[in-house]
Amino acid sequence: MTRIRLEESIDWPAIYAIYDAAFAQTAEADLVRNMDRDGDLILSLVAYDGKPAGHIAYSHLALHETPSVKACVLAPLAVSPSFQHQGVGTALVRESLQRLTDDGFDLVVVLGEPSYYGRFGFDPKLAQNLKTPYDGPYLQALALSDDGRRAHGPVAYARAFAELT
Ligand SMILES: CC(C)(COP(=O)(O)OP(=O)(O)OC[C@H]1O[C@@H](n2cnc3c(N)ncnc32)[C@H](O)[C@@H]1OP(=O)(O)O)[C@@H](O)C(=O)NCCC(=O)NCCS
Repeated sequence: MTRIRLEESIDWPAIYAIYDAAFAQTAEADLVRNMDRDGDLILSLVAYDGKPAGHIAYSHLALHETPSVKACVLAPLAVSPSFQHQGVGTALVRESLQRLTDDGFDLVVVLGEPSYYGRFGFDPKLAQNLKTPYDGPYLQALALSDDGRRAHGPVAYARAFAELT
């Protein structure tokens, strides 16, 4: 059975192993570590199924024209290949969105496959109101409150995104 909990420092080797296995690189794990270094990480969850199976992270997103809207970025997300297609990714996304809603977040932005994120309500049309470095068909947004739907204009991602190679 999959168990999801907040990341702890003891999880770092497992997190690197998950991204290495899922993406054949560790740039995504470095992104999480750098967001943590900068104090920009707002949620980091690990899924366990006997052993570490998946990870998801969220970081701060600044909205210049609607600063009262509490927004964040979903990135990265990965499930180890031996655990994929068993609902681990879905469980990580659903649990994290519930926690963010409980914490008063209004908006989540993600860059990814609309066919995957659409099932959680992420919508490319809502993201078109924003001006980001990642504008295009893969940028999607999910409003967690009515305030989230009025977000618009330029945004600033966490600094660690600019260091991604
Ligand atoms: C994408 C990922 C996080 C999904 O996690 P998961 O635990 O396998 O997902 P779930 O079991 O909850 O859902 C599986 C469904 O998601 C869909 N799906 C999986 N990967 C997908 C992808 N890359 N694009 C679109 N849909 C995808 C499929 O419809 C799949 O259904 P199926 O099992 O009937 O084929 C995982 O496959 C992964 O880590 N992949 C490699 C890294 C990656 O692409 N991360 C996404 C960053 S945007």
